[in-house]
Amino acid sequence: MEIIRVKDAQAGGEKAFELIKAGMDKGIQTLGLATGSTPIPLYRQMTGSDLDFSNMTSINLDEYVGLGVEDEQSYRHFMNDNLFDQKPFKETFVPNGKAENLEAECQRYDAIIDAHPVDIQILGIGRNGHIGFNEPGADLNGTTAVVNLTESTIEANKRFFDKVEDVPTKAISMGIASIMKGKQIILMAFGEDKAEAIYGMVKGPVTNHVPASALQNHDDVIVIVDDAAAAKL
Ligand code: GLP
Repeated sequence: MEIIRVKDAQAGGEKAFELIKAGMDKGIQTLGLATGSTPIPLYRQMTGSDLDFSNMTSINLDEYVGLGVEDEQSYRHFMNDNLFDQKPFKETFVPNGKAENLEAECQRYDAIIDAHPVDIQILGIGRNGHIGFNEPGADLNGTTAVVNLTESTIEANKRFFDKVEDVPTKAISMGIASIMKGKQIILMAFGEDKAEAIYGMVKGPVTNHVPASALQNHDDVIVIVDDAAAAKL
């Protein structure tokens, strides 16, 4: 893993943007995208740039079960709002959290991932070391699946909802094996809340107790962190 230290989240977003721009100059076609507060500075760089994404495809990591584009807290809504409405892509994929048959939706999503190999995968990280919604205990060889969210993730994500009872308890998430298919992975983490997870990911053993530690087995991972997130390295 290559660790790049930056001053703050803004500088981290700028760095990730440079890497995406360099990739696009070389002709990459597919971006794997993430939600959460971490990638917002990157998306601001993208929307504020003169880059044209209309020939690009994007594939998002996850979506809450039961939420659709009309729900402000859905990840589809987040992506449209923060990126796609301002910078149209050729195609954008987010799991359908309102699919009647969730198992079929997972299979459909895996077929999408296989048809559009991800060139650069953007990731954040949960405080417990989750990536996408692959919580501690996840199958490191898993593909897209319906997953139960842990109490700590529900607690961390409640800030986006009116009350904790409104936070969905399930999500559809790309699995660790699906994420590992990305040719290059750029994971960003900022703030002291992420220090333990970053330590486990970089220095700890590869274990499903810290799902992000699986990235040690990928040969092109760039970790962009501020000093607070890197404090335990
Ligand atoms: C959610 C998302 C993850 C994200 C994590 C951290 O659980 N499923 O993809 O990395 O939150 O969010 P934040 O960037 O807001 O700290």
